[in-house]
Amino acid sequence: MGSPTSLPATALLWLSLWTAWAQALDNGLALTPTMGWLHWERFLCNTNCDSDPHNCISEQLFMQMADLMVSEGWKNVGYQYVCIDDCWLAATRDAQNRLQPDMKRFPSGIKKLADYVHSKGLKLGIYQDVGKKTCAGFPGSFGFYELDAQTFADWGIDLLKFDGCNYGTLNLLAEGYRNMSLALNKTGRSIVYSCEWPFYMKFFKQPNYTEIREYCNHWRNFDDIYDSWNSLKTILDWTAGHQDLIVPAAGPGGWNDPDMLVIGNFGLSWDQQVTQMALWAIMAAPLLMSNDLRTIDPNSKALLQNKEVIAINQDPLGKQGYLERKVEDFELWKRPLSQGALAVAVVNRREIGSSRSFVLLGNDWACKQKCVITRLLPTHKDLGLHNCTSAIKVQVNPTGTVLLKLTASEDTAHHKLFSESDTWHSMDTL
Ligand SMILES: *[C@@H]1O[C@H](CO)[C@@H](O)[C@H](O)[C@H]1NC(C)=O
Ligand SMILES: *[C@@H]1O[C@H](CO)[C@@H](O)[C@H](O)[C@H]1NC(C)=O
Ligand SMILES: *[C@@H]1O[C@H](CO)[C@@H](O)[C@H](O)[C@H]1NC(C)=O
Ligand SMILES: *[C@@H]1O[C@H](CO)[C@@H](O)[C@H](O)[C@H]1NC(C)=O
Repeated sequence: MGSPTSLPATALLWLSLWTAWAQALDNGLALTPTMGWLHWERFLCNTNCDSDPHNCISEQLFMQMADLMVSEGWKNVGYQYVCIDDCWLAATRDAQNRLQPDMKRFPSGIKKLADYVHSKGLKLGIYQDVGKKTCAGFPGSFGFYELDAQTFADWGIDLLKFDGCNYGTLNLLAEGYRNMSLALNKTGRSIVYSCEWPFYMKFFKQPNYTEIREYCNHWRNFDDIYDSWNSLKTILDWTAGHQDLIVPAAGPGGWNDPDMLVIGNFGLSWDQQVTQMALWAIMAAPLLMSNDLRTIDPNSKALLQNKEVIAINQDPLGKQGYLERKVEDFELWKRPLSQGALAVAVVNRREIGSSRSFVLLGNDWACKQKCVITRLLPTHKDLGLHNCTSAIKVQVNPTGTVLLKLTASEDTAHHKLFSESDTWHSMDTL
């Protein structure tokens, strides 16, 4: 995006909005980040239904999750897609070369499962791979993009996660991702297209995000998430380290995907779960939980269902946030929101000691007039009316995050709380 200092801020803002809105995949989907549940991180490739019927990849698992998404309030707050990952397939295609599920684990077939999920007012996602085999070694889509897209459409699939294992050459990888996008379009069915194109490409060549955005609704850039703080922080660090490249690519219809939410599993402390929820909201990330909704603890559930934080993630302006600066092992992240509001996250990256205080000054939020500040995480608290002379002190636990929302107070509602130079391109001050 050229040098930020050589163009007026408003021109850059327009340029980035134009990039975001004019060139998204034209399927009318993912105007805000996709929300749902995806089996991979928690259930992996567990195909052993004989010894572990409760946790194996089977139609029963997805029906249970669909039931719970409705009965436990997930659907009400926006989680909509129930998504199957790798390991649903039979070892071979059928006599007509069509994909078929493992009949022992999906005895009713995928169409019946889709009907069931749809009867609950939810949507069904499925998984395939651009190459000859999926990552777990099941038949891939290479050579069958149109047939597989049509099969998915016939079954009533609503989202395709398209992995990139076993892709052959870089040209075939790109052609495959493009061809599958066109094949999905040709079916006439609305299917969210979730890609891993830049992840596989980046080892050889800088991905062209303008192009990726024309073909995909979201795209994975970096490693699979694990159930650990170490994994979470490598994702945050990669994102911050590449924000000049990836932040401008995000917008309604196309999003950077930092991978699943692992909140409610085994590996993250409470503060680390708060950090994941807050930063996935700042990053305008798809919210695809991979956890066990049958046994999730109430605190994790409340965090994942926090409507105020979800509203930041789903903000209609659709601008991804960014790391503005680091100071004394604190990170200050910001995300511009609609109606001139602003989300601010303060992460304490120190992994030793006790909670530390961080002071935000008026110029941290470019507060020209009066604004109302609300703390959303770790707990909700109204911090009242502030102006440019205010100083807000927040206490942040090690590896934890405080998430704030700043809105213009009623008498100054026409003033933006952030100046235009305060969007993503100002971060070269890092
Ligand atoms: C297919 O693409 C065209 C234009 O590129 C678009 O108008 C149409 O809505 C798309 N259809 C589907 C089902 O995505
Ligand atoms: C993609 O589609 C084009 C046009 O139909 C075809 O020539 C090409 O072989 C396809 N590539 C792959 C990898 O399937
Ligand atoms: C990136 O892709 C866009 C759209 O397909 C294209 O116009 C542009 O030339 C590409 N940029 C580079 C550096 O290849
Ligand atoms: C800002 O708020 C402080 C404390 O409420 C108040 O004393 C001060 O006059 C205000 N300044 C402006 C410019 O509104």
